[in-house]
Amino acid sequence: MNKQTRKAVIAGNWKMNKTPSETTALINEMKPLVADADCDVVLCVPFIDIAAAVEAAKGSNIKIGAENVHFKESGAYTGEVSAAMLVEAGVEYVVIGHSERRTYFGETDQTVNLRTLAALKAGLKPIVCVGETLEQRELGYTETLLKFQTKMALTNVSAEDMKNVIIAYEPVWAIGTGVTATDDQADEGNGFVRAAIEEKYGKDVAKATTVQYGGSMNAKNAEGLVSKYNVDGGLIGGASLKAEDFSIIVKAASK
Ligand code: PGA
Repeated sequence: MNKQTRKAVIAGNWKMNKTPSETTALINEMKPLVADADCDVVLCVPFIDIAAAVEAAKGSNIKIGAENVHFKESGAYTGEVSAAMLVEAGVEYVVIGHSERRTYFGETDQTVNLRTLAALKAGLKPIVCVGETLEQRELGYTETLLKFQTKMALTNVSAEDMKNVIIAYEPVWAIGTGVTATDDQADEGNGFVRAAIEEKYGKDVAKATTVQYGGSMNAKNAEGLVSKYNVDGGLIGGASLKAEDFSIIVKAASK
């Protein structure tokens, strides 16, 4: 983490967990535990939980995010949610292109880009996920893949808009598996993402962009991961469903 030039962001990604009443209870439990954070604290929750989350987080330092957004402004897209709807509901961040959406729901680099543009246009802060599979890593394509995914996601995104973009490097093999990247692997992967940003926008933008690590980050390994120069916080799945664990990660990123 480089606190001089960018801010650490710890974002929970609840995935398909917690009902609205469970959301209220968990955020109420978390609020006092993360109140003195010296990093941004975000919880990305299922659409149905957004109203409860925004209400519960009121007056605290917890910001609310969604887990996806559609790229069209409105229309005949049954089951989808637009960026304007999220903004009006009080959402500030949105996860885009998570590997689970790429794997199970047909998300492509192109739709990730369209969603990113739609989010930015509406004033949301996208958390764009990129990451290699184990097979791609073993074949030696990690750098190529991460640079390609990053640049594709950022097609037509202006340097000015990059102030609102977060990239999350999430090696697919580390998500939900309990196998975390080593501190050095995370730093290297995040470094490839930052290099792609530098190639596209130059050094200043690359230095100022928050790049998170995600993939089995937990209360035990967070401190080592966020101590790395290129790791500006994390996108946390499983450990964001436990108030105590999540608050330990927030504390690690606040140092
Ligand atoms: P995990 O999930 O922390 O449970 O591995 C991370 C993510 O999918 O964002």
